[in-house]
Amino acid sequence: MENKKVIFSGMQPSGSLTLGNYLGALKNWVKLQSEYDCYYCVVDMHAITVPKEPKDLRKNTLEVLANYIAAGIDPEQVTLFIQSHVSAHAELSWVLNCFSYFGELGRMTQFKDKSKKLDNNSIPAGLFTYPVLMAADILLYQADLVPVGEDQRQHLEITRDIAQRFNNRFSETFKVPDPFISKDGAKIMSLQDPTSKMSKSDSNENAYIILMDDADTIRRKLKRAVTDSEGVVRYNDNQPGVKNLINIYSKITDKTTDEIAALYEGKGYAQFKDDVAEVIIGELKPIQEKIDYLLKNKDYLEKIYVHGAEKAEAAARKTLRKVYKKVGFIPRY
Ligand code: TYM
Repeated sequence: MENKKVIFSGMQPSGSLTLGNYLGALKNWVKLQSEYDCYYCVVDMHAITVPKEPKDLRKNTLEVLANYIAAGIDPEQVTLFIQSHVSAHAELSWVLNCFSYFGELGRMTQFKDKSKKLDNNSIPAGLFTYPVLMAADILLYQADLVPVGEDQRQHLEITRDIAQRFNNRFSETFKVPDPFISKDGAKIMSLQDPTSKMSKSDSNENAYIILMDDADTIRRKLKRAVTDSEGVVRYNDNQPGVKNLINIYSKITDKTTDEIAALYEGKGYAQFKDDVAEVIIGELKPIQEKIDYLLKNKDYLEKIYVHGAEKAEAAARKTLRKVYKKVGFIPRY
């Protein structure tokens, strides 16, 4: 255990998890859990950077935890917890805020995308400092690796910059983490606009599949998935819709993208889309049954997150103590 490298990652309970979250990150988390010392977190504090109904946040937080376990995360093996239960995240975040720059935060594409939809006077400061809290999440656990989808790469870069800056100023304090981003499937695209990523905050429900979608919903969404007028199942950038569906198929079945294109030679999109739907349904069915079961057993979920927070707290406190000392705070005991 001692010599295992450390992994940290998290997902926002801003809604139900999507097929993008699952194929882009969660499936990798499962693969990595036995080889590394993993901390997997439900980042509820990040979820309030945009308006969120309290009752929805509570519901989604438990759902995301259930989704993790149902997808194969073993709570015995990994530390599974809820971000707001470990106050060191907020505490380190404040310190790091004082070592992060307005300019670099303003360059974050996620901030630019989200803030441009809002009036200047109603952009929450938390949306702006969001990446600093994310850096705190990761650096508290001295993580070596952070398995995420492609869209989080820039946040990982700023985390590294903040860690290096702090280390240079005060001597070695934080491990500088590396992103762990898989090649294919690191960006699952919207089913309605295959040039933008699949996101649970999309206003069009047909654009994404959530892990809880039933079979008929998945079939319907796939039928409506945007493709093109070429009519040939080929893996290339000029056919982003088809490429995305091939990626989904490939990520689930472990068939290569070439194998899949060959399977559909001479067949139209209708058959291909139907088959992609069935592949997704087959993958999600056992997960959905487990999610159902877990959400009916809230006591079990509670035991897991309480125990997880205790373990996480111990590791996080160690780092925070070091940081407080380095910046010059007087220890209370
Ligand atoms: P979030 O909640 O948006 O997404 C969770 C994870 O899913 C990946 N992902 C995708 N991968 C492929 N295709 C997609 N369409 C897709 N959509 C989402 C994301 O890359 C991510 O890995 N800021 C983070 C949460 C976070 C975090 C952290 C992650 C907070 N603290 C510390 C790692 C480490 C986020 O909003 O992810």
